[in-house]
Amino acid sequence: MKLLIGLGVLAAMAAAASPALAAGDAVRGKTVFAQCAACHSFNPAKNDPGPNLKGIVGRKSASVEDYIYSGAMKRSDVVWDESTLNAYLANPRVVIPRTKMPFAGMPEPQDRADLIAYLKTQ
Ligand code: HEC
Repeated sequence: MKLLIGLGVLAAMAAAASPALAAGDAVRGKTVFAQCAACHSFNPAKNDPGPNLKGIVGRKSASVEDYIYSGAMKRSDVVWDESTLNAYLANPRVVIPRTKMPFAGMPEPQDRADLIAYLKTQ
């Protein structure tokens, strides 16, 4: 019993520290990607106005060679995994202050989870 209460507290703390990632639906995520498609594709040769997102899950930030990133993104030194993408997509300018990505953020956790599930397939 005591252990269960302890685990509950830990889970609550983890949820407060960073937005929890819900289970994602890649099929739905493809439709959510419409919000990104004006600026991003998965074509390594197409990096305008945003860098291509091919293999983005597991990719190091600012690693598309031909792309001119903001200084903030160059210095960010993150690996885009589920957790960093979840935080960045929720609030790009809070996670990477002065990023030049002109996107206000995606407030719905389920949208982010579905989108990340889709990004993993690319
Ligand atoms: C209006 C254009 C625009 C939209 C819409 C947009 N982005 Fe971006 N994105 C950019 C730009 C520009 C950058 C480069 C940011 C920098 O250098 O600071 C970027 C950077 C990124 C990066 C970092 C890439 C890297 O190589 O490190 C990720 C990840 C990303 N965007 C994902 C998304 C996703 C997912 C969406 C949809 C929810 C989205 N973006 C919507 C323009 C956009």
